[in-house]
This record gives sequence, C-alpha cells and structure tokens, in this order.
Amino acid sequence: MRCALRCAWADRMRVLVGADESAVARAAAALITERRPNVLGVATGSSPVLTYRELVRARSLPGNVQLCLLDEYVGLAPTDPHRYRAVIMAQLAAPLGLPDHHVHAPDVDADDLDLAAQRYEQLLCELGGVDVQLLGIGRNGHIGFNEPGTPIESRTHVGFLHDATRVDNARFFASLDHVPHKVVTQGLATIAGARSIILIATGAAKNEATTALVTRRQSPLVPASGLFDHPDLTVIGDHAALDGATYPRTLLEPV
Ligand code: F6R
Repeated sequence: MRCALRCAWADRMRVLVGADESAVARAAAALITERRPNVLGVATGSSPVLTYRELVRARSLPGNVQLCLLDEYVGLAPTDPHRYRAVIMAQLAAPLGLPDHHVHAPDVDADDLDLAAQRYEQLLCELGGVDVQLLGIGRNGHIGFNEPGTPIESRTHVGFLHDATRVDNARFFASLDHVPHKVVTQGLATIAGARSIILIATGAAKNEATTALVTRRQSPLVPASGLFDHPDLTVIGDHAALDGATYPRTLLEPV
C-alpha cells in the first residue's frame, strides 16, 4: 500500500530543486515555454518576478497568449499600481507587447462581486480553460488567496485575507493599513482545473507549507495540499524551501 502511494505520487508530482532563485526562475520559464500555453494563469507577489523576467527575455510565449490573473484586491483605486492587474501589465504583458485585452482579472469594481466572480469563472471557461497556471505559495499554505479553511471544491469567490497574509504583503504597500482585506480569488477547484500547474517556492519561510504539499499531508488547513492529486503538477523551489522532507526530487543542473 505504501509503495502504491509512493509510485502514484512520484508519477504525478515533480519536485525540482534549484540552487537559487535564478535557477528556479529559469526552470519555471522553460517549463512554461515547453507547454506553449494559449492561456497562462499568472500569480503575483515576489515568487514569479524572475520567471516573468525570463519569459520576457526569451520572448518564448505564443504571441497571442491570454494572461488570466489568479486573484485581485478589492478596494484599490482603478489606477492604483498595487492592483495585480497593473503588476502583471508592468512585469509581463507590457514588456511582451501584449495588448490590454489579453490580460484578464475579476472585475473588482463591480457592485456585485459575487456575480463578478461567477463571470470570471465563466470567462476562464470561454477561453478554453487555463493551460498553465503559475503559482506562488503563502507561508500558511495559501494559493491564490485561498486561505486555510477554504473548501477544496471552491470556485472563484470573494475572500478575506488572514492577518498573517496582510502582514506578509505589507512590504509591497506604504504600511499595513494600506493592505486590502478583501479580494476576489480563483477557488481551489478553479486552480486545480488548469491543465498544468507550476508552483514556485523559495526561502525557508515557505518550507513548512511546501513540505505539507509534497509529503501528502492533505488538509484544508494547507490549501496548496489540495493540489496533490493534480495530474501535471511541478513544484520548483530552492533548497531552503524544499529541503527537509523525504520525497523524490530532481536537482536542477547549474547553468
Ligand atoms: C498572488 C497570490 C499569492 C502569492 C503568495 C506568495 O497572486 O496568489 O498566493 O503567490 O502570497 O507570495 P510571495 O510570492 O510574494 O511570497
């Protein structure tokens, strides 16, 4: 029984360990490129920044790629540069020369946010689904803004950030008071619907969360662990984020 589990696990999830953030980014960009996504799901925050830089440098994405955000803050002015849509425009879409209408996010300015969430879910369907979803992971195991306790079957919905997540994200804002409480995020089932998932984790602060994911401690308390059974999941991280647990892994060659 133990062996059967191990085999299924090794078949499904790939764990790649790089020496540093640059090696991780190069591997993530190469994998995204290999998948030739028409629809690329994009995360924000620190984790994917170097990967976006690599993708811009290589110009290796299909020219007509559609970028779909994982989540968006509610309550920021439409022109606020902290909006995740603005971040993706600046880090990826604009440098690649992608037009504005190739970048999709939930309409967080709508009066009815629940409806806006449903519409986003619908849009992802109309685009044919997400081919490759790039993810970071929160210290508490959140993916997108699905905080611990979010049901595994959740679809795009209105959510609230945990205090710890707001504290972590305060580094992007003038102060903690500026960090929104409310978000619209793809749900765990929405994320898991992507054909291919690449999760990036670097730094010791992520070790507990990634260990819970890669060692199959599946629990609603660690939202990322809901991805465990995904048929095409690659976790790419550095030693600080991934060392410690016993699981099959591939060391990335230094380039
Ligand atoms: C951002 C997102 C979050 C981040 C996570 C890790 O769109 O969905 O789940 O990926 O908070 O953030 P960083 O990469 O800044 O540590």
